Amino acid sequence: MGRRFFYTHKLYMIKLANIFALSISLQVGLIASPGITLAQDYQKNSGLQWEWATESLRNFAFAPGDKVLDVGCGDGKITALIAQQLSCGVVMGMDISEKMIAHASQHCQAENLTFFQGNAVDIPYREQFDKVISFCTLHWVLDQERALISMNNSLKQSGALLLVIPAKCPNNIASIAELVVHSEKWLSYFPDFKQERVYFSASEYADLLHKAHFDARSIVESESITLYPNKAALIAWIRPVVNFIDHLATDEQNAFIEDMADQMLLNTTLLSDGSIPIRHVKMEVVAVKL
Ligand SMILES: C[S@@+](CC[C@H](N)C(=O)[O-])C[C@H]1O[C@@H](n2cnc3c(N)ncnc32)[C@H](O)[C@@H]1O
Repeated sequence: MGRRFFYTHKLYMIKLANIFALSISLQVGLIASPGITLAQDYQKNSGLQWEWATESLRNFAFAPGDKVLDVGCGDGKITALIAQQLSCGVVMGMDISEKMIAHASQHCQAENLTFFQGNAVDIPYREQFDKVISFCTLHWVLDQERALISMNNSLKQSGALLLVIPAKCPNNIASIAELVVHSEKWLSYFPDFKQERVYFSASEYADLLHKAHFDARSIVESESITLYPNKAALIAWIRPVVNFIDHLATDEQNAFIEDMADQMLLNTTLLSDGSIPIRHVKMEVVAVKL
């Protein structure tokens, strides 16, 4: 392909010791309210996102004085971790969800840390940041190329990009949600249903980076199996990231999520202790603005 990036694939296991503190979210959801509305549920059930982000941050160097933008900062805990680690420099967290920004602003406070509401496809800064990072967010953005161009525009010359995104995986939550939506029981509740999540392979992502004027330095896919101790843990993981059911009554929302969990269980062989192994594929991207 003539481009300077490397691609690797690895496998590891994550065992979730505590159901609610460490169950997950990630991949999915589908449309409706902009971004995640259940900030507190997300904060309690985003152990996998935390694992993925902190793992990638360990290998990504910040320089003293760096100005950093975290796109899709969510509840702000990862943004706050970076602000803490920067000896000097500032970090800004941006998210499309008003509820997430309110939660982050209230719970994550530091002198070098600010949050604002904004859309990844339309970042209101030009050539301002030394580093732009984004964790478990860009699969929510259908116009991926526009988001990458927007991030490129917000970076200073030679600024660096670090992305963590769930990669293509046959059994992701978006596919499960789509199956349940189209079942006889639920179809009439979603007359205008539209899939609002997007997943890429490493080579597709290399092309997108090239089009958005980035030099891709590495694209690494890693496979992990997360163990959910029981169905309640699986449900706690699914709920905050499925924002397209916000228009349903609470008991209907609960029934829908339970049907999603049952659908996932159909395709999963439980371990001998009853825990539920769910496969996730993480894609980590490091690139530099050309
Ligand atoms: C799964 S959460 C990840 C949050 C955080 N980065 C983490 O790793 O814990 C995805 C976040 O992306 C936000 N989001 C979705 N679409 C977005 C967009 N177009 N622009 C900015 N943020 C967006 C959601 O509101 C949500 O907070």
